[in-house]
Amino acid sequence: MSALACHEIIDHARYPIDRPDDSRREAVVAEVRASLADDGCAVIRNFLSPAGLAALLDEARERVPLTHYSARKACNVYLNDGNPDYPADHPLNVFVPRSNGFITADLFGDETTARRLYYWEPLKRFLADCLGKPELFIYEDPVSNMIVNVGRPGQQFNWHFDTNEFTITMLLKAAATGGYFEYVPELRSAADERYEDVRRVLDGDRGRVRRLELGAGDLQFFLGRFSLHRVTENTGDDDRLLLIMSFAEKPGMIGSRERVQDLYGKITDAHRQARVRADGLVD
Ligand SMILES: [Fe+2]
Repeated sequence: MSALACHEIIDHARYPIDRPDDSRREAVVAEVRASLADDGCAVIRNFLSPAGLAALLDEARERVPLTHYSARKACNVYLNDGNPDYPADHPLNVFVPRSNGFITADLFGDETTARRLYYWEPLKRFLADCLGKPELFIYEDPVSNMIVNVGRPGQQFNWHFDTNEFTITMLLKAAATGGYFEYVPELRSAADERYEDVRRVLDGDRGRVRRLELGAGDLQFFLGRFSLHRVTENTGDDDRLLLIMSFAEKPGMIGSRERVQDLYGKITDAHRQARVRADGLVD
């Protein structure tokens, strides 16, 4: 089968994102912006074409045996080491199980469908418009800029806040059961950690929890810095596969050596030589 053109990877008839003046594009951008303003989450349903989804899924499945599973088995919601100055039952010191893996960016060659979509200029412009950013840049981290998150049966990505402001994902394969994306919009703010509210969610209070039904081929935007979120346990019998594309607001950003090593099990010369490092944008 010959390679798909970039616009064929997506449902271009429905989402003509490379045509700035098309009213369908404007309408989608407006919908995403409204949804993000409402609760920090937005979904473009069936963004990928059937052929695009099939190609991306094939590429991911071929590489599943190369998945790196993080050695860390439990994390607090802040993804740090906790704080002994606080009580043991404080959210800072509550470590919940977390298990999943990543197929790293270096395993996808330039010719892959995933990589060509990631580098497609109109996609970057469209995503920037949806997020209300003047411009987005490719995240230059060679290990983590475009990765596939693998959730095997029994695995879960537990409650946490992201270090990065926004996340862009495309679900390639849902879990047959479980593997739900759940979030609590605006649980904390830049000024207030609201530890009591975090504790309530960790204790099982579902009063403010929203569950998103995602289908394969959907594109999701999520603002995860202030909204607590998780992917529930995959209770099906096959992997959940999620393509994650990271972008930066400045050129030349890469992840820190320590964080990339911890999450992805490898670093490159770019990490060893970097003098100015940004925080990891993928989490
Ligand atoms: Fe996250």
